[in-house]
Amino acid sequence: MPVTAVVGAQWGDEGKGRIVDWLAQHADMVIRFQGGDNAGHTVVNQHGKFALHMVPSGVFNPVAKCIVGAGCVVNPDNLLEELAQVEAAGVPTGNLFLSERAHVVMPYHPVLDALQEASRSGKEQIGTTKRGIGPAYADKAARWGIRLGDLRHPDWLRERLENVLPRKNREIEELGGAPMMLEELLDRARGWQERLGRRVVDTLPMVQHAVGTDRSVLLEGQLGVMRDLDWGTYPYVTSSNPVAAFAAIGAGMPPTALKHVIGVVKAYATSVGAGPFPSELDDEVGEQLRTIGHEYGATTGRKRRCGWFDAVALRYAAWLNGFTSIAITKLDVLDTFDEIKICTGYKCGDQVYTHVPDTRTYEECEPIYEHWPGWKASTREARTWDELPKGARLYLRRLSELVGVKVAFISVGAEREELIVM
Ligand code: GDP
Ligand code: IMO
Ligand code: MG
Repeated sequence: MPVTAVVGAQWGDEGKGRIVDWLAQHADMVIRFQGGDNAGHTVVNQHGKFALHMVPSGVFNPVAKCIVGAGCVVNPDNLLEELAQVEAAGVPTGNLFLSERAHVVMPYHPVLDALQEASRSGKEQIGTTKRGIGPAYADKAARWGIRLGDLRHPDWLRERLENVLPRKNREIEELGGAPMMLEELLDRARGWQERLGRRVVDTLPMVQHAVGTDRSVLLEGQLGVMRDLDWGTYPYVTSSNPVAAFAAIGAGMPPTALKHVIGVVKAYATSVGAGPFPSELDDEVGEQLRTIGHEYGATTGRKRRCGWFDAVALRYAAWLNGFTSIAITKLDVLDTFDEIKICTGYKCGDQVYTHVPDTRTYEECEPIYEHWPGWKASTREARTWDELPKGARLYLRRLSELVGVKVAFISVGAEREELIVM
């Protein structure tokens, strides 16, 4: 497959890591194009079970080059810890490179993230992962950011931090936190350079070569469109763009290089953090989805909010991303339900919406449902379309029809091989 973006089609945690791990078996390059270690991408394969935060899910293919692209923000300490965990499982990481243009999540960013969240009252709270993602991207946009490439120029880094740190410390102290010391930060930066420096390169020639010679390149997104900075449920969003258009920017290639866009979508819906989620189930059915689907955050361990599949949100995702196909995950989680619902519209006052409205209106929306009988049989062992129970096939066909995109993969378990390739 030429250049393929694999992106989240809902509120995140759709199973992107699982799909990228499978596709990466035959990929030459896998690039994370946005976000930071707020991601929790679960991969279960012959090496074990991993919750990857920053390392691309292609790391298990020893010959694939893995790149953390310019669109990402990188916490060096957390990345080093993650690399050590992956290596301890016997997985080589020598093929992992970091763009010198990617921004550093500096130690003051998670501190500010936590202090800013604490200072927000009630509904203003976003429920961030407290990984410093928002403050790091804010500094990038405001041109106060430190980039990985800056770490190899100690004088330049000192000069930049002498300017930046007093501003950061003013905000930290104003919010009740303890200021950080310049020399300590410079010390830590020296350590990062020593341990990560050889991986920090200009990744563009590698990407150009791979695309130019028609290699199989995967672009791995973080989170999902409903948390996109521009198109998600602002302000309850992340601070980057998980949509496929940003894959080209974050990885460093022209948009015309992208040939396939796979939207990863759960057979139902989940969301972590605040903000509108009309098909959310605040009852025992939601609890059942959470228990059977083990819906707890891979990064924060928080309970994920659970609900029915939202076809309106999915159509929105399909348009914004230009899905050429979708991968439906966690079908097996629905195996025991008597009835399954699909949200096909929203009711807001006396108005009916068949598109996603902006946040304030979205918060008031009530779901309109289609009702489907459950298939009450295990899908777990199915490896072909025909092996799926008839009810499951009807449900999947309906999802595909409502979204207007063909299904390329159906995942029926967390393990690599528990997959139906259409
Ligand atoms: P990501 O952030 O999009 O990579 O998704 P997460 O890893 O955060 O969440 C997906 C969760 O579902 C993980 O615990 C996966 O191991 C698990 N998972 C993925 N696909 C399937 C599936 O088809 N069936 C089941 N039961 N679990 C799955
Ligand atoms: P993956 O890649 C689910 C959510 C947070 C919060 C909002 C902003 O595993 O799908 P941030 O820390 O980014 O400033 O938080 O986004 N969030 C995620 N939810 N999966 C993730 O990553 C997430 N990364 C951030 O809960 O609502
Ligand atoms: Mg996740």
